[in-house]
Amino acid sequence: MNNDICEIVADEAALEKKVAEIAAEINRDYDGKVPVVVGILKGSVIFYADLIRKLNMNCELDFMAVSSYGSSTVSSGVIKIKKDISADVTNRDVLVVEDILDTGNTLYLLKDYLLEKGAKSVRLCTLFDKPERRQKPVKPDYKGFVIDDLFIVGYGLDYNEKYRNLPYVGVLKKEVYS
Ligand code: IMP
Ligand code: MG
Repeated sequence: MNNDICEIVADEAALEKKVAEIAAEINRDYDGKVPVVVGILKGSVIFYADLIRKLNMNCELDFMAVSSYGSSTVSSGVIKIKKDISADVTNRDVLVVEDILDTGNTLYLLKDYLLEKGAKSVRLCTLFDKPERRQKPVKPDYKGFVIDDLFIVGYGLDYNEKYRNLPYVGVLKKEVYS
């Protein structure tokens, strides 16, 4: 185990099992549809790569890099698009794949943005969910692990761009970031 990690949240076997469970739900719901599956860079890349290989339907792959900014106490934030989607989503079913849902600010704005672009439907899939931290009323349509208010890294998730390549997800020691 990496020295900066104090506790494993999900090891490789747990991740694989959870990804398969999420894929099964998506396969059931999107049967016969051709969704645009949008990975949110960079955190979702490993989850995304594992998930799409378990999807049975035809789908298109796309990516966005986004962040939310503005005061979190104001209900209408602004979404900052660092990399926009390349597909035309008009009348398309869009499935957004995210690493972790925290305050909800990012996905709240992103869902609106994609609907405004003309998407027929927008569903949200997140591997981790920290519901305690929510500031916006965002409910994921597909979720993996529900966790307490802990800072986790690995399997795509970073702290200062580090730890994304760990094959498991663990809690980062407090002394590393405080
Ligand atoms: P929010 O839901 O708009 O607050 O933003 C969620 C984003 O914050 C995620 O996509 C991650 O990039 C980042 N994030 C939140 N919690 C964690 C964590 O525990 N570890 C690593 N990144 C996190
Ligand atoms: Mg992220």
